[in-house]
Amino acid sequence: TIMDQLFETKQVELQLAKYLGIEKCLIAKGDSSQQTKVVSSFGEMVNESLATRLPDGKNVIAVMGGTTMAAVAEEIGQLETEKRHNIFVPARGGIGETVSVQANSVSAVMAIRSQGEYRSLFVPEQLSSFAYETLLQEPSIKEVLTLINQANCVIHGIGRALHMAARRKMSESEILMLKQHNAVAESFGYFFNEKGEIIHKIPRIGLQLKDIQNIPYVFAIAGGKDKAKAIHAYMKNAPKQTWLITDEAAANEILKGV
Ligand code: F6P
Repeated sequence: TIMDQLFETKQVELQLAKYLGIEKCLIAKGDSSQQTKVVSSFGEMVNESLATRLPDGKNVIAVMGGTTMAAVAEEIGQLETEKRHNIFVPARGGIGETVSVQANSVSAVMAIRSQGEYRSLFVPEQLSSFAYETLLQEPSIKEVLTLINQANCVIHGIGRALHMAARRKMSESEILMLKQHNAVAESFGYFFNEKGEIIHKIPRIGLQLKDIQNIPYVFAIAGGKDKAKAIHAYMKNAPKQTWLITDEAAANEILKGV
């Protein structure tokens, strides 16, 4: 029956959260790498979680990019209330994605759909370190960076290391380095090995991984059987307060011990 199924899913969610050592897991039916409707379920789960968990007052929500995050944004609904105001910002600037799945775009879509506000962070991809330092002194950039540092909520994706390196058109020598260090996962512009150790970081402004440890509401959104290994690796050192929103395909694979 449906009740049995729901009960079973809840059991697996508890089991997975315990196995990964994080606060909570929510598992959607199916495999998100095969069925787009599963990614929409992630969006509904994120929306519901934000609606119930975000406190009253001002919330600063830092988001990452990627195709999962872009699809999740489309499911966000009204989150503003008389007492609650949300400002969406990109978590990090310019780590190499096409415009429609950039963190700036995800943050704008979420803000518009939830009736909140957003701020964009414009950092070109290819910059000399001199230009980069100069850019950081710009008042408009500084203002957004200050806001990003006040984030009390982060929503991010997780990807496979080499897949992300290729998507970002990283150089051959960088890809070789990632292979030599057995990179399996990527999140926030950081690459991780199977033990969840950082082996490479794209030097970009915005939230750094260590900052996320102190942020109360952290949501990681990733599913699909092919991402199981990446999710598992990333979670080894993920902040304990993380909520993972995933699907059955990834959950089953992780629990099998990939
Ligand atoms: O590039 C942004 C990002 O969030 C990465 O940190 C992550 O690995 C990737 O996108 C996930 O992308 P997708 O949801 O398309 O697999």
